[in-house]
Amino acid sequence: MTLAEARKRHVVLADEIRHHDHAYYVLAQPTLSDAEYDRRYQELVGIERDFPELVTPDSPTQRVGGAPVEGFNPVRHRVPMMSLDNAFSSADVEAFIARVQKAAPESKLAWTVEPKIDGIAVSLRYEHGVFVQGVTRGDGTKGDDITANLRTIRNLPLRLRAPSGEGSGRSGTPVPPPEVLELRGEVYLPDAGFKKINEERIAAGEEAFMNPRNATGGSLKQLDPRVAAQRPLAVVVYGLGEVIGNPQPATQTTLLAWLESFGLPIPERTWTAHSPAEVLAAIQELDTVRRDFGYETDGAVVKLDAIALREGLGSTAKAPRWAIAYKYAPEQARTRLHAITVQVGRTGALTPVAELEPVLLSGSTVSRATLHNEDEIRRKDIRLGDVVFIEKAGEVIPAVVRVDTDARDGTEREFHFPRQCPECGTAASKEPTADGDGVVWRCGNPDCPARVRGRIGHWCSRGAMDIDGGGEVLVTQLVGGGHVRDVADIYRLKLEDLAGLERRGEKSARNILDGIQASRDRDLWRLIFGLGILHVGAGVAKALARAFPSLDDLAHASEERLLQIGDIGEVIARSVVGWFQDPDHQALLERLRQAGLRFTSSTYQPPTGAAAGPLAGKTLVLTGTLPGLSREEATALIEKAGGKVSSTVSKKTHFVVAGTEAGSKLTKAQSLGIPIVDEAQLIGMTGAP
Ligand code: IVH
Repeated sequence: MTLAEARKRHVVLADEIRHHDHAYYVLAQPTLSDAEYDRRYQELVGIERDFPELVTPDSPTQRVGGAPVEGFNPVRHRVPMMSLDNAFSSADVEAFIARVQKAAPESKLAWTVEPKIDGIAVSLRYEHGVFVQGVTRGDGTKGDDITANLRTIRNLPLRLRAPSGEGSGRSGTPVPPPEVLELRGEVYLPDAGFKKINEERIAAGEEAFMNPRNATGGSLKQLDPRVAAQRPLAVVVYGLGEVIGNPQPATQTTLLAWLESFGLPIPERTWTAHSPAEVLAAIQELDTVRRDFGYETDGAVVKLDAIALREGLGSTAKAPRWAIAYKYAPEQARTRLHAITVQVGRTGALTPVAELEPVLLSGSTVSRATLHNEDEIRRKDIRLGDVVFIEKAGEVIPAVVRVDTDARDGTEREFHFPRQCPECGTAASKEPTADGDGVVWRCGNPDCPARVRGRIGHWCSRGAMDIDGGGEVLVTQLVGGGHVRDVADIYRLKLEDLAGLERRGEKSARNILDGIQASRDRDLWRLIFGLGILHVGAGVAKALARAFPSLDDLAHASEERLLQIGDIGEVIARSVVGWFQDPDHQALLERLRQAGLRFTSSTYQPPTGAAAGPLAGKTLVLTGTLPGLSREEATALIEKAGGKVSSTVSKKTHFVVAGTEAGSKLTKAQSLGIPIVDEAQLIGMTGAP
């Protein structure tokens, strides 16, 4: 293929992919099958590999790129990012409307009512239709540059569509995007994604996020965009920041249609109302339909529709006077907390659970709720015997939100979080939580019966080795009866061991044995996941089974080798290597091998391209300014050659690429004796022309 041919094909493929992304992620109406989409995407990747000059920042392949950063750069907002005043009743809303009407007595005012999406506010900047920068609200005048993480959000267009007359949104008037278009919107995590992430985190022995908003904030604060890319975040835009260029729409209603015509995701339901009664009716209707949105909304935002009239109304220190946020009362229930039990997970994490007087909440009876960790109990001052309010967030396990302190009569008792494992009595140790805000207590005894039950249950679970009949009851019976101490023991069970258990006949015992037999031939990733290595969820296990032909190859892999695999960072690599180095684990694997389990991978994909490249297995650190390459370009070059870019210099760094004004990383490299190369040498090493 010549460059000219490649350029032509690149344009066609990139357009098709953008079109599909918009149809799939914004309109929820896919135009291509997954297989066809993948084929086009891979073809585009191939063209860009052969003709790197065709890679542009807004190419669909450039959503996840660049190395982890050390921190976020502060950015001043050209138009401040304000917040909104709250309304909690119909009277509050009516008073707001009356106030605005009083300031504009001669106009017949209209209002828009939009869902208030419970996420994280962001500012998104497009220049000449290309997404160039995304910033958090921060303190309203200055936020953090989180562009790399925002680029990974699939419904955020990297390039705006140039609307044509037909189908160009609700208004129908085609106007190309202005030179500078800064948008205000909200990033959120849909409930399904939240559930999936938390399930994966728990399966990988990590702490669950408290709610979708928290998970969104945590994802946007990731220093490694590859982690953010794993989180199925979404964005919605509802307002403007700085705009330079074309005349802007006159009303909020036409603004939304205009934004939609550029391919941007806007709130899925909005209302235009012409009287206080219509506004209140819209707020009420939104409260019923929002339950089916599939993401969390916590209110309705009422906005003066006429944009030109807004400025004249002024603002308070925190919020403009042209809009208000009506907050829906969250679905809560009030009940008594009888006790706090502490559960011991597979990884030894001690999780407090509230045992409640059963109460109806959003259609189901709730008798237990999560208390997250010790700090949460202290922060909320939750005492045994308290009357508490519980709430459901994102269709997950309910949580205790606060105590009804007025209901206290002095008989409530403080809860002392155990310093020993409640199951085996071993002294627990303290570790910081994933978000660094609190601590988790862990039982460090690997033979703790609760941990053993957790490990066996995890091994048998549907997501891992999928052993039929291996449910919680059976696991408890087997561990309690001393039949099984680790997962290899499962494969030595005999008919009489199982048939002898309480309430189990021969037929049930045979079924279980059949299930165990079938599990000997499961895909390797299920076995890897089933081992319960900290931080290795099903996704990571699949990546490992694709990267290694057998479990033995994985067991001997170095951290450097693991780091070459996409999706695997330093924390995971260290955890995997450490697990396989443990002699007890090595003995366990030997027994599993002898039990006839399949150790070979049927999903193994031999390395091609980058993984076999000249820098395969090498970790490089960039420092200072290179004469000809930007940081992103240098990173792309290294990754294309199979290398990995890390942000910190350590003994494991193979090379440091230094430019001008290189700082502490260079000094550190020198002190560790790590080879230092310049840009020309780097280019030579990658084999680039
Ligand atoms: S308009 C000048 N519209 O709620 C402020 N905000 O409590 C313009 N939010 O800061 C904000 N959905 O982060 C607006 N449809 C919506 C919204 C929305 C969610 C958030 C936003 C805002 C906060 C105010």
